[in-house]
Amino acid sequence: MRKLVLAAASIAALTLIGPASAQSPVIIKFSHVVASDTPKGKAAEKFKELAEKYTDGKVKVEIYPNSTLYKDKEELEALQLGAVQMLAPSNSKFGPIGIKEFEVFDLPYILPDLATLRKVTDGPLGARLLKLLDSKGMTGLAYWDNGFKEMSANKKLISPVDYKGVKFRIQSSKVLEAQFRALGSIPQVMAFGEVYQALQTGVVDGQENTWSNIYTQKMHEVQKYATVTNHGYIGYVVVVNKKFWDGLSADIRANCEKAMKEATAFGNGQSAKENDDALEAIKKSGKTEIITLTPEQDAAMRKAMEPVYKDVASRVGQPLIDEFLKETGAASH
Ligand code: LMR
Repeated sequence: MRKLVLAAASIAALTLIGPASAQSPVIIKFSHVVASDTPKGKAAEKFKELAEKYTDGKVKVEIYPNSTLYKDKEELEALQLGAVQMLAPSNSKFGPIGIKEFEVFDLPYILPDLATLRKVTDGPLGARLLKLLDSKGMTGLAYWDNGFKEMSANKKLISPVDYKGVKFRIQSSKVLEAQFRALGSIPQVMAFGEVYQALQTGVVDGQENTWSNIYTQKMHEVQKYATVTNHGYIGYVVVVNKKFWDGLSADIRANCEKAMKEATAFGNGQSAKENDDALEAIKKSGKTEIITLTPEQDAAMRKAMEPVYKDVASRVGQPLIDEFLKETGAASH
């Protein structure tokens, strides 16, 4: 924390001097926890390329991937303090800073596909959710995809009964906690950067994530089985420190917004392929057996997770859940 406060103080001092003199570019530190070779990593690189180009080098974007600067929880604190300017945490990670509404994205099977997701994020509901960030000193700029989550463990996960007593790493979301409790598992909140080692040493038995995250963190090397469940979604909210963003000249901000819009289209246009490629690479490695569920097994998983909607209604908000379900056209829960 002390380190963060000092860093924030030096950023604040820089801002007072004025960030955009002719010689010194505005620095945007962009911290994230995944590998560069992932949907988020690649979208961040694209934003860097375009923001630097459109501002003629008046903006310099420094990307810090793979938790090199901060782990999950510290990231958002660092942004609020101004020690970094831009992040793209997953929806699940906004609960602990008091914006539990984003946990609606964590509800099991709430999104049948990416087209439906886009309907929500590009519509009025998506815009309203972004507005909630203002009160926390952040501005929400965009929604970035990763993709759908799969389950993995060192045992075969086929029917709900297989999940009983299994310790799963989760992101810091109460919805995800409720999801694993509904399956009789033991959820354990853990930073993303610690998952590989926790799986390797047996601190947890399993985890849920997208193929691209599983592959780039080498989780498949320490998990004997992975099941194609597509039971949930991981996506990101690109956020900037509000004071920093509002303090940019209108010209620089407009060019950065243009860069963000294009980087978003680029990233979201290739996220599904990234995950498909990662699945292929995992299969090819021969280290993890990939399990596919029959329609009946899939239905059993859906039924087992159904109670989660009621369990978290008071936290996430039933009206929000209902509105979300209306948008997605899913049956009401
Ligand atoms: C996780 O913690 O599993 C993910 O949110 C990591 C990420 O940023 O994709």
